[in-house]
Amino acid sequence: MAKQIWKPGNMLYPLPAVMVSTADREGNTNILTIAWTGTVCTNPPMTYISVRPERHSYHMIKDSGEFVINLTTEDLMRAADFCGVRSGRDTDKWKECGLTEKPAVSLKYAPIIEESPVNIECRVEKTEELGSHHMFLAKVTAVRTDERYLDEKGKFDLNRAGLLAYSHGEYLSLGKKLGTFGCSVKKKAPSKGRKKQKSEAAKTGGRVRRKRMKTRRTGEK
Ligand SMILES: Cc1cc2nc3c(=O)[nH]c(=O)nc-3n(C[C@H](O)[C@H](O)[C@H](O)COP(=O)(O)O)c2cc1C
Repeated sequence: MAKQIWKPGNMLYPLPAVMVSTADREGNTNILTIAWTGTVCTNPPMTYISVRPERHSYHMIKDSGEFVINLTTEDLMRAADFCGVRSGRDTDKWKECGLTEKPAVSLKYAPIIEESPVNIECRVEKTEELGSHHMFLAKVTAVRTDERYLDEKGKFDLNRAGLLAYSHGEYLSLGKKLGTFGCSVKKKAPSKGRKKQKSEAAKTGGRVRRKRMKTRRTGEK
């Protein structure tokens, strides 16, 4: 297999393309799209976003120390792109994208985007000035989820929301389910047919199973 060697850069994909809503302490709010984000700690729940200081939102986050990560879906793809190519300096992105601003439950300034299925409310703990981007390391202060995605058993079925992924300049929707966490080591539950065979075999000391296997091999009915 031939491989090319590229100069160092970021090729970690897919990533989420989230809409981050924020505000300054005067109550001016804005949205920007962020792909440089991720989970960094489970307990306490910590996340980060990396933002270029020239972004209009940057100074809002610096000022209030608050932001909300709003997950995006197929339906929000156009809004997510728009919020990533237009600046709040000269555009009201809420209005242009038809998005609804609602107060957060745990923050004073930054609002949530109502249309997003999951709103992750965050308070900045530390800012790392890395270079082109400054990383806001933040504590998650509350998570809000859309009840539309609760199944009959009350389980939150997030993957029904049509989550959006960003990969190498393109937006994609998540594809088909291939497995679940730990599936590679999980013992397969015997199928109904096999279960029946097993219990018959237990009763007959394995005779039924051997007979069936022979039948399967030879194709006899
Ligand atoms: C898919 C996508 C991902 C982006 N990711 C980031 C990012 O991680 N950090 C960043 O500073 N800008 C990122 N941007 C660019 C900003 O969202 C964009 O410059 C935006 O217009 C800034 O808005 P503002 O000036 O209103 O704050 C991204 C844009 C897109 C379309």
